Parts: sequence; structure tokens; C-alpha cells
Amino acid sequence: MKTPACTLTSRPDLPASLETALVHLGRDSAAASHAVNPPLVRASTLLFPTLADFKASNGGCVFESPRYGRSGTSTQFELQQAMARLSGAESCIATPSGLSAIAAVLGAHARPGGLILLQEGVYGPTRALCEQVLAPLQCRVETFCSAEDLAGKLTAASFLVFIEVPGSLTMQMVDVGAVCALAAAQGVPVACDATWGTPLFFDAHRHGVDIAIHAATKYLNGHSDVMLGLTTGSYAALEATRSGCDRTGSHVSADACWLALRGLRTLHLRMPRHHTSALQVAQWLSLQPQIERVLFPALPTDPGHALWQRYFTGAPGPFTVELAPCSEPAFTRFIESLQWFGLGTSWGGFESLVMPAIPHHLRGLPVQPDAGRLLRLHIGLESPDDLCRDLAAALPLLQGGAG
Ligand SMILES: Cc1ncc(COP(=O)(O)O)c(C=O)c1O
Repeated sequence: MKTPACTLTSRPDLPASLETALVHLGRDSAAASHAVNPPLVRASTLLFPTLADFKASNGGCVFESPRYGRSGTSTQFELQQAMARLSGAESCIATPSGLSAIAAVLGAHARPGGLILLQEGVYGPTRALCEQVLAPLQCRVETFCSAEDLAGKLTAASFLVFIEVPGSLTMQMVDVGAVCALAAAQGVPVACDATWGTPLFFDAHRHGVDIAIHAATKYLNGHSDVMLGLTTGSYAALEATRSGCDRTGSHVSADACWLALRGLRTLHLRMPRHHTSALQVAQWLSLQPQIERVLFPALPTDPGHALWQRYFTGAPGPFTVELAPCSEPAFTRFIESLQWFGLGTSWGGFESLVMPAIPHHLRGLPVQPDAGRLLRLHIGLESPDDLCRDLAAALPLLQGGAG
């Protein structure tokens, strides 16, 4: 099987290539201290030299200019500006986590009686937020599974279309361009959870997305030590979200932004490596007898491959694996015998991870059915040969009995 190569998305609006931009963006405030890196500025109180400056601080854009600690300091502003530039967007809002960014965007567009159209297979907590928070507030939420399906449900009275590419766990692709064209024709904004691709592999705004949401907790930071959301778009597209974040006291720490800025410096090195390693492991796994299917749109055999090729320039680490029927004890033995895969939720760090992936409709069952068990693997920056050897040693355990 030929391995699809990856490239970085192009950013003709930047004065240099993305690699150079990643090294140099977000460092303006460093000059005053003669340091390479911008200072970490923690603050609740901000001081102004004159009354005129103090009064003027209230006229600036919240989360983009100094006024009070909650709206940020130069540290948050540096990261937001860097992310906006990388994304080809006017503006970026940092929030305390990826889920808080999703909640801020959905909350800003939810109205009693209003309709939000949600792609099937989005990140579980996104769906739970819609079902358990928005629906009780009389906001109508309907799901769709493809652009064709959306066409039959979308009207000018809809408030938001929300997509995620690829969908969490199912790894299902949606035709982003077609969804955005349909929504634009009705004047409805499209928000997209673009965490998987990052701006390096998925140029969300160029494909028509109005609001791109990134759990920067994952690849953008890349070191498994920060919770952070970054949302990009034009000022107009982000207006309701920004004002909602302001009203609800959303604030992200300067420390998280400083670490994420550090993470950005190596994003262009990490992402292609995640791509080649994930493909190697996914291709190898798909040939193993204990594996029913590997759900990964970068694989030429995946049903979403053509859409992935159209919209993405690479594919990073996480993908889903469907195992041949196996018992719970064998499944447990397999997971616990892996040496290089940590057992944990999340992905996007430098390390490989494994976790049982439980589809929405099976959540809450005390015991998962033996058939159709899903695993999510995140392929980190270790040697992919070591990872395959680790999996090769563990896979035979799946065929053991219940004992
Ligand atoms: C696709 C996707 N979006 C959003 C999130 C939420 O991000 P956070 O954990 O930073 O809240 C996650 C977390 O796993 C995710 O996988």
C-alpha cells in the first residue's frame, strides 16, 4: 500500500513559509527584555500611566488589548495573534480548554426555538452539551451525516452548522466545502472543530469555515501539559462568541498560553512525523488477523479517503481500530501488556496512547459487547518500528479465552 505523503498547508498571506512563521510569530513582546522568548506576564491588575489611558483601555477589543487581567496580558495576546496569522484569520480567542471553546461558540449561537445543525459523530462531550444543556433551554439540535443530508435540513432560520473533521472515534469525513457552500447560501455560519488537522494540515477558513475551533490541548501545545482552546475567525464571525466569553468571565492563564507558544515552535516538525508514523502503524495494523478495520481517512482503503485528500495535506496520530470479536479479559490483557502506549484519554502529545473507544450508543453499558470493540490509538513520536513490535507482541493476547 502506497503511503500518502504530507505537506504543510500554504499561507500566501504570510511574509514567509509556515515553518519560518512558526519560529518568529508571537515574539514581539520579547524585544523589551532582550530575550528570545516573550515574557510570561501573569496579572489580575493592570496599571495605566494616565487617566486618559485608563479610560481608553475600556474601548479596546476585549481579549486583545490590556484592560483587566481577565481579558489577558501580552502573553495571551501573543499566542492569539500567532494563531490568527497561522490560520489566515483576523482574530483568535483563547479559552480554558477545547471544550470551553466549543461551549462558547455553541452558546453564542443557541436561542430558544432556534436550530443548530450538528454533524453526527462529533466529539462526545460536544453532543452531550447540545443534548443536556442546549436542548433543555429549548434550543433545537438536529444531526446530519453528510452534505446531502444537511441540504434537506438547513433553512435560513438555522443559527449554526457545527462540524468536526474527521469525526471523533468514527473518523468519518464530511464534505467541508459542500457544507460551507450550502450554509453560506442560507447565510448560516459554519463552526468546525478542526483540532485533528491543526492549521498545518487543514486550512479551515480557506475551505469556507467561519469559526474554527482548536483544542490546543492537543497538537498545538503538543506536550500533554496544558488545557487550552483557540478559536479563530473574522471579527464579525467571532463577535457573539467574544462577547459571550466576556460576559461569562472566561479567562485562560498566561502560563498555558506561554507553554502553547513554546509548543508552536516545533509544530511543523512534529506534525509530519505524526503523519508518517501513524500511517506506518495503521497500515501494519490493517494487515493483522486480530484487526477487523482501521478507521483512518489517510488510508487509501478508508471510505473518507477522497475527502481527506481534498481538504487535508496530512494526517496526524489518532485513529480508531475495530478489533475482531474478543472477550473482555483478553481485551484487558492486550491493553495492559502494551509497553509504549500509555492508557489514557487525550492525544496530540509526543507520546503514544491507547484507550477503549466507546461509541455513543454503547456508553453506560456495564460490559461492552465482544464484537465490534473499538480502540483509539494515538501514535506519538517514538520509533514506529518499536510501536509495531509492541503491538505485535500484544495482539496474540486478544485471541486468548476468558481465563
Ligand atoms: C476533537 C476534540 N475536540 C475537542 C476536545 C476538547 O478539548 P479539551 O480536552 O481541551 O477540552 C477534544 C478532547 O479530547 C477532542 O478530541
